[in-house]
Amino acid sequence: MVKITFLGHGCTLLEADQGKVVIDPFLTGNPVAKVKPEEIWVDAVLVTHGHGDHLGDTVDIARKNNALVVAPFELATFVGNQGVNAHPMHIGGAREFPFGWVKLVPAAHGSAYVDGNNVVYTGNPCGFLVRMDGRLIYHAGDTGLIADMELLGRLYGIDVALLPIGDNFTMGPDDALEAVKIIKPKVVIPIHYNTWDLIAQDPQAFCERVKAETQSQCVVLEVGESYQL
Ligand code: NI
Ligand code: MN
Repeated sequence: MVKITFLGHGCTLLEADQGKVVIDPFLTGNPVAKVKPEEIWVDAVLVTHGHGDHLGDTVDIARKNNALVVAPFELATFVGNQGVNAHPMHIGGAREFPFGWVKLVPAAHGSAYVDGNNVVYTGNPCGFLVRMDGRLIYHAGDTGLIADMELLGRLYGIDVALLPIGDNFTMGPDDALEAVKIIKPKVVIPIHYNTWDLIAQDPQAFCERVKAETQSQCVVLEVGESYQL
């Protein structure tokens, strides 16, 4: 069994018998977050790209938990240089960890750590396929609609797809609906919306369209809510 808890924006906690993983732990400064980084207990932190709203509290959480950070090579190097245990991977690569199987998959986006005028490029962004307790979860990260998504559904059989719907920086609802049609996951959970006005969306309206036009279930999680599979 895997329990998926939506912590706001792209931040998602996966808890299985096999282990616990948090993806894109942006909590400090996240206007919708309800938990603090100190409250996160995990074996690993998976980070899709270097933008502040995804890298977030990665270093603090990894340090406190002695957790492994899994990220694309350049970002893993950037994080590893801050004294945490980081495991570099890259798109197309998969690895079996004690806490689960992880594969990095393409995302059409950018990746840099931006601190004022200082921009540190952190390679390519990614999405993650994560298999824990025999369930396959796809966290798309920040991405536009890409045809590669069809392959993920066809080759891996996705149980739950966490897809951004916020528009502006990522897919909006129209493109996310197309993504559902090609990925064909059993369940869709929308993410990356309503954190700020710029990405305001109606997730229920999106789910109604998913239910009307696809075979997938769609579940809206309030911040702090969980879905078990
Ligand atoms: Ni981003
Ligand atoms: Mn983002």
